[in-house]
Amino acid sequence: MTHHPLTPLMAEEIAAAAACVREQSGLEANAFFETITLDEPDHAQMAAFRNDQVRPTRRAFVCCYERSSNRTLRGVVDLDAGQLLSWEHVPGVQARIVSEEFETGNAIAKADPRVIEALAKRGITDLSTVLIETWAPGNFGHPDEEGKRLAYCHCWVINVAGDNRYGRPIANLHPVMDLQNQEVLRVDDFGVVPLPPDSAAIRPADGLRRDIKPLNIDQPEGPSFEVDGYHVRWQRWNVRIGYNLREGLVLHDIGYEDGDELRPIMHRASMAEMVVPYGDPGGGNYRRNAFDTGEYGLGAALDSLKLGCDCLGHIRYFDVCAHDWDGSPLPIRNAVCMHEEDYGLLWKHTDTYTGQFRAVRSRRLVISSIATIGNYVYGFFWYFYQDGTMGTEIKATGIPFPTAIAVGEDPKYGAVIAPGIASHVHQHSFSFRFEMCVDGAENSVVEQDFEPAPMGPDNPYGNAVAIIERPLVRETEAAREMDLAKSRSWKIVSSSRRNALGKPTAYRLLPGHNTLPTLHPDSPVAKRAGFMFKHFWATQYDPEQLYPAGWYPNQHPGGDGLPTWVQADRALDGEEVVVWYTLNFHHLPRPEDWPVQPIVYASMHWMPEGFFDQNPALDLPPGAITQ
Ligand code: CO
Repeated sequence: MTHHPLTPLMAEEIAAAAACVREQSGLEANAFFETITLDEPDHAQMAAFRNDQVRPTRRAFVCCYERSSNRTLRGVVDLDAGQLLSWEHVPGVQARIVSEEFETGNAIAKADPRVIEALAKRGITDLSTVLIETWAPGNFGHPDEEGKRLAYCHCWVINVAGDNRYGRPIANLHPVMDLQNQEVLRVDDFGVVPLPPDSAAIRPADGLRRDIKPLNIDQPEGPSFEVDGYHVRWQRWNVRIGYNLREGLVLHDIGYEDGDELRPIMHRASMAEMVVPYGDPGGGNYRRNAFDTGEYGLGAALDSLKLGCDCLGHIRYFDVCAHDWDGSPLPIRNAVCMHEEDYGLLWKHTDTYTGQFRAVRSRRLVISSIATIGNYVYGFFWYFYQDGTMGTEIKATGIPFPTAIAVGEDPKYGAVIAPGIASHVHQHSFSFRFEMCVDGAENSVVEQDFEPAPMGPDNPYGNAVAIIERPLVRETEAAREMDLAKSRSWKIVSSSRRNALGKPTAYRLLPGHNTLPTLHPDSPVAKRAGFMFKHFWATQYDPEQLYPAGWYPNQHPGGDGLPTWVQADRALDGEEVVVWYTLNFHHLPRPEDWPVQPIVYASMHWMPEGFFDQNPALDLPPGAITQ
């Protein structure tokens, strides 16, 4: 079967890629496969495919970890020819943690006499009630950790009811695992804290409420989208659904049909990296700083979504395929959900003289997936609107990371959220990556500030506000922070196309809620998460520069990714531009976040600005509320 070049790898392709690497690379038998995913064609190859029907080679990117040599190896497989095109050792890095290491790590830690003794000190002798989770350890410069493949473990007494594995944390006990040699390197024990008294079952104390009536979404003529494979057309939007093991849901070839013309906006959009640094320095808590994308692989952690549960209405699901540590395919059914939502009012005008009004309702297309990583759950939702706006929203839920605390005590860097349970303050930081092509391959970057003018003869009443537009023409000057006083935003403009008013067509990035990092810039975590210190970055397109903390953030000493790349100071004016937007939010968990957290939402949008000549949604038919 011939796939579109951007269609995610199928199960048989993943199996073929793994077999090819095993046969042709000289890989040792017990090596594991960190990543097998589509090696995407670059822009030039896709242009040749679109314009001249030149089909790019179907390729898989493969990364492996070889245990005997403690080496990370990577290469590319030509799936058409069954040939390994390249294979190399990547020195000085560690592959991400894989699922097999979670399973074996738990068993190995529980067999270690030092761990058994530390548990006994806490009165825990039944090891079948203990869960020891292997977390990526970061890099804090401890000499005995240098050069080793490690995990920093967090321990739990598993709730006997079975419905909250994170309700009874064993505070201050952290086995440090040597994952290469499959042994406990040392046990960090910072002292006994009593277990929380409750099991924190996720169920209501007084049964389910009975006053909620059915609410059905009825689409008697079906949905308004058309689907061809992984390609979607909806209300003039065109988008192709993609996937990779690292980022999970990826969107390709985002464009808008304007008359007979399909106008390009973005080649590719994704959430490319994230980090959650915790704000407590005590015990082993400073180790909590999950890079869920690069250290664990969001695409490997996608939920299989169920009708009537995760989504409502006429749902179209898309399957994707992850893989196991041994390279065998692990299909994820219903990994991506697509449906339409009513979104209230889009526009309205009332003629107060005649009493006539026109109003149309807004509908949006939702493409989403949800990743479960241990205690936490992240929903990644992409939205397309009928007025040319598009955007993305994070939905953060699951169980806030708890720690035990003596009843009656208050943590310095967190909050008590249940009897004997504290949760520490932390930040969630997400890096969105957009390969832009607004009305053509060549784009430029403009920053806009609302600049209040000084009072004086030209501004006698102090109301003047100038719109200052500043082209950002090199990468180093395009690393920017938000400015609330100036309502700062950024737009990406076409180098070739003008609208009816003679201005370049453009899309504006609209930041939503955001904050600055609380990490000290010299902290070990900040060095690995340099991307979070600027809200906006722009780089010249380089298909190798996909992940803003670098390809291998696990145990990385820092300095890779965006802050390093922009030192090349490439030109951005009339170039192929990649935009990176950082969305940070603080989180101090509340009692209401326990035992499971209602969703915290954080979003950003792209809005057309002079891309159209007037409101593109004037032609929407009357909705139910129109007269
Ligand atoms: Co949180």
